[in-house]
Amino acid sequence: MIHTVLDILKIREDFPILKRKVNGKPLVYFDNAATSQTPQYVIDVIVDYYSNYNANIHRGVHALSQEATDKYEEARIKVQTHFNAAHSHEIILTSGTTHAINIVANGFSSLLKKGDEILVSAMEHHSNIVPWQMLCERTGAIMKVIPMSLDGELLMDKYHALLSEKTKLVFCNHVSNALGTINPIKEIIDAAHAVGAAVLIDGAQAAPHIIADVQALDADFYTVSAHKICGPTGVGFLYGKEAWLNTLPPYQGGGEMIAEVTFEKTTYAGLPHKFEAGTPNICGGIAMGAGLDYMNSIGFDAIAAYEHELLEYATDKLLQIEGLKIYGTSKNKTAVISFNVGIIHPYDIGTILDKLGIAVRTGHHCAQPIMEFFQIPGTVRASFSFYNTKEEIDVLVEGVKRAKAMLE
Ligand code: ALA
Repeated sequence: MIHTVLDILKIREDFPILKRKVNGKPLVYFDNAATSQTPQYVIDVIVDYYSNYNANIHRGVHALSQEATDKYEEARIKVQTHFNAAHSHEIILTSGTTHAINIVANGFSSLLKKGDEILVSAMEHHSNIVPWQMLCERTGAIMKVIPMSLDGELLMDKYHALLSEKTKLVFCNHVSNALGTINPIKEIIDAAHAVGAAVLIDGAQAAPHIIADVQALDADFYTVSAHKICGPTGVGFLYGKEAWLNTLPPYQGGGEMIAEVTFEKTTYAGLPHKFEAGTPNICGGIAMGAGLDYMNSIGFDAIAAYEHELLEYATDKLLQIEGLKIYGTSKNKTAVISFNVGIIHPYDIGTILDKLGIAVRTGHHCAQPIMEFFQIPGTVRASFSFYNTKEEIDVLVEGVKRAKAMLE
């Protein structure tokens, strides 16, 4: 089913922020890849938590602590169900994708040795590059890059050629934040497994658009941030196969992650608590579950179909602007358009768009190697969500035309 305009207008009513003005103009929010907006449903869940059952979890016998614990664990099960993990203890609640990746990168310190190889795709966010570089510094492992084409698609023949028995880990995003490319992660995972390598998929940019089935994909690790899926910032999760999570050592020490502590020795708690030291973002975890509930109430098939319509409409309109070039032209992409107009600096376009109430991201999008590949300082990135409209895209197109006229 594809949403009608009327449905979208109704959906927009769920997001209070979409009613505000910026610089005297109605807000046009096209920075959804940076963070999604928050529906009233999720805001209400946050208010309810702090108004009615704010307490620490897994600790007290008192009623509030029990209620908070139950809701937090319900959220874990919502994540497990949505991403089809085999067990709820395979879902480690984290502060976000970066934290999740660092748990794995840290854990592999004792599993890699000098000369082992790890493969990274050419279109990663810095959060899926830097922790692995730090891992290489600690272990002597070597990082190799899976190259991409000018369309922003991974060169899969090169990937297959890079794999060998030396490869221990492969990490790749499901969807590129800067280009929108949907990567062939099933092929990537299967090929890595054939040489005995583990695979971490950064699902931060896929989660708002695609339901990943971690068991069908056979992913070893999959990471998501809640604020991309209508939840709050500062929370997300690491999915890991039980066997891997039992193999990796804890990332942080502290309360909650222990079985027993004496001054001589500490034994660690089982999963998932082994990786959840300290008081977590309790309200955030619960609100992440609410974000998933909200998005599921709309339906991911409907979201994907409507966003695809927005992508095609915007691509067509933007390409009519002389000198506008889109970076990331894969046939398989989400509703993200990265572009430049001639030699105009993306910041200048972004600044003028902001004056018109249009929020886009400008710059390298935490993916400097991609910008280096295209030999550009950065791009203007418009990223769409299911609550955006074609009328808003018209406003963007007029804004870009105006910026071009002013800056050329
Ligand atoms: N990773 C987020 C983005 O692409 C912040 O904007």
